[in-house]
Amino acid sequence: MNKRKKPNYKLRRDIAKAMLVVIILIPILIINKTKIFNFPLYISNIKYSGIIDSLFEANYKYSEAKNTLNYLKENKKISDDTKDYILKLNSKGYNKTTIDYLLRNLSDGELTEFLSKKYNKDYEEYIKLDLFDYSKFDRYLTYQKENKNLSIDDIVTRIELNLDKTYYEDSIEIKNPNDITILTNKYLEIPDDYEPKDLVDMSDDYANNMYGQLRLRKEAYEKFVEMCNASREDGVKFYAESAYRSYNHQNIIYKNYVHENGQEKADKYAAKPGFSEHELGLAIDLANIWTITTKGEEYAWLSKNAHKYGYIIRYKEEWEDITGYAAESWHIRYVGVETATKVRNKNIPYEEYYIKYIANKKKTNK
Ligand code: DAL
Ligand code: ZN
Repeated sequence: MNKRKKPNYKLRRDIAKAMLVVIILIPILIINKTKIFNFPLYISNIKYSGIIDSLFEANYKYSEAKNTLNYLKENKKISDDTKDYILKLNSKGYNKTTIDYLLRNLSDGELTEFLSKKYNKDYEEYIKLDLFDYSKFDRYLTYQKENKNLSIDDIVTRIELNLDKTYYEDSIEIKNPNDITILTNKYLEIPDDYEPKDLVDMSDDYANNMYGQLRLRKEAYEKFVEMCNASREDGVKFYAESAYRSYNHQNIIYKNYVHENGQEKADKYAAKPGFSEHELGLAIDLANIWTITTKGEEYAWLSKNAHKYGYIIRYKEEWEDITGYAAESWHIRYVGVETATKVRNKNIPYEEYYIKYIANKKKTNK
């Protein structure tokens, strides 16, 4: 005969009790969420990056932070050095973002050097920026001293563009001149032997070919034709007066300017050969029967519409200290519709757009 097992009342009672405890405890834990996340045991189970976040987000006071860090150190969650750096940086007044950045990116030598600097609130502003690079810190500070009116974001952007260096002399060669969005300026040189492979002849309908056949890269030309047709439908007419230039052609233009105006002025109007967007086959100087001016209807039309065809107005008066050139209301540059639209909507010089949103992305995607 099968003996029926007697129910285990004790076990059932224990399970019921445990469930009750869980039911009561869960809402309490949820309500006190921040408290749970402050709990050092939690911290000890998360990765290093979260340690500082948890410590300072939870507003640990120096003494509490010290105890927690000691605890973490004893349990081999962080090294003695890391503990010391966190405490020293924190006692100097640096916030968690700064401390986190410094510990992740600086060598011990650099950390020691940084600790020898007096606390400066600006440093926290610098370190927050995407473009911040500790190896350029001294350059930022020197540039800031010389340009007190600039924001910290402006300073970091300009140093990234090497504006504190000597133009042409300290230039860097660009690696991908074929890229439609590539930036060339007085600091970024086109390789010597570069010549676009897809140059096409521009029709007399859209270009003044009287002084020689004008050419442009294919994609830029096709969009230019579309743009001219659209503007003409709106009753606004312009055409290309100058487009692709070889190195030699740019050299003649530049030398002429130097001859007529002297070096300093020439450098405001024309690029030295090797440094002109015209050599990329992506820039056009426009004309109507006269010159295009900021007051004319062509400029107004272009300001409103050029981006729809991938073109940007490249040199504006207010950007002169970044582009290095005086305003050119006639010079447009092809960068593709998507990029042109973003640049136009932000209304920033292409230098700034490129360094923040194109070059930086390539760097972080690596
Ligand atoms: N005038 C522009 C800056 C050029 O020469 O490319
Ligand atoms: Zn031009």
